Amino acid sequence: MQYRSFGRTGWNVSEISFGAWQLGGQWGAVDDEQSIGTLLSAYEQGINFVDTAELYGAGHSEQVVGESLRRWSGDRVYVATKIQPTVWPNATEDDPAMTGRYPQWHLRHGVELALSRLGVDRIDLLQLHCWLGDGVNNLEWLETLNALRVEGKIDKIGVSIRDYRPDEGVDIAALGLVDSIQVIFNLFEQRPVDRLFPAGARSNTAFIDRVAFDSGALSGQWTPHTYAGWEPGSQQHEMFRGDRFTDTLERVEALKTLCAPYYPTLAEAAIRYTLSSPEVSTVIAGMRSRSNVARNVSYSDGAPFPTELLDQLAEHRWPRNYYA
Ligand SMILES: NC(=O)c1ccc[n+]([C@@H]2O[C@H](COP(=O)([O-])OP(=O)(O)OC[C@H]3O[C@@H](n4cnc5c(N)ncnc54)[C@H](OP(=O)(O)O)[C@@H]3O)[C@@H](O)[C@H]2O)c1
Repeated sequence: MQYRSFGRTGWNVSEISFGAWQLGGQWGAVDDEQSIGTLLSAYEQGINFVDTAELYGAGHSEQVVGESLRRWSGDRVYVATKIQPTVWPNATEDDPAMTGRYPQWHLRHGVELALSRLGVDRIDLLQLHCWLGDGVNNLEWLETLNALRVEGKIDKIGVSIRDYRPDEGVDIAALGLVDSIQVIFNLFEQRPVDRLFPAGARSNTAFIDRVAFDSGALSGQWTPHTYAGWEPGSQQHEMFRGDRFTDTLERVEALKTLCAPYYPTLAEAAIRYTLSSPEVSTVIAGMRSRSNVARNVSYSDGAPFPTELLDQLAEHRWPRNYYA
């Protein structure tokens, strides 16, 4: 496992880290003991960063992550969690106002709940689950989080950018107001390299890359029969409904053909592509199984990404919001 500096924080985090949404139960049934076993196996293999949230199974993912920490006696593991706004903006709304989304009472209450679900005295990284660009004009949220930092309830502060709107993070990245920014970046959604990453590089803000596998599509393991196997109502069943699944498979096949001369699997190309941007501090891969952990960890070996492949991949950009 290779480690990277986490912006200005002084932390060294594993390039591959653990996305714990799947452990909350919204991706299909979960067995908590199995989840804890997967987390411990990740820590044993050098993963030292976990991303969770209040939203993942109404706090269940945080509780499972907290239990894994109590059973772990090895090197330090950093845990990042997130607080939702009082009201989520509509996904189609272009410039929603920040006012009233993260009032002081809401953030304070949310932090207390997260501390108790995780079972820790201090949260390593507290992220706003839904960053709004207007937040740079109204800094009440940051004043509250800084006060919580002084009180010792949280350590570092981050924001998570709305799905498929990387440019909403450019201003906060340039200003360096927070320690980290979480964004979707993968073989389809390549736009963060255009404006967001350069802006964050200047302020040395850490980037957390989410959805490196495009929610599983870029694992390259789906077949035309995969959709039928998902539980109705589960996350992937909802996201890839209708023509979305077959449209995605078509694009995935083209990427497989392009990447095959370089990498044995598309999953490997997908992870190595995200690691090719030096601004990315860590890639939070969503994982439930020990085998996926072992596979993803094996892709972190410091090998450079072929520049000719990078050039050809630019033609495969395909940003679209299947969360909506
Ligand atoms: N707004 C936000 O802040 C936000 C939104 C979305 C996600 N996130 C965070 O980002 C994390 C990652 O996003 P995501 O989980 O939605 O998408 P993702 O990482 O792109 O995809 C996760 C899927 O990929 C599969 N997978 C992982 N490694 C694999 C491998 N080596 N080979 C084959 N399949 C593999 C997993 O399968 P199994 O489940 O079978 O292991 C899972 O179904 C989440 O867990 C969460 O922590 C944050």
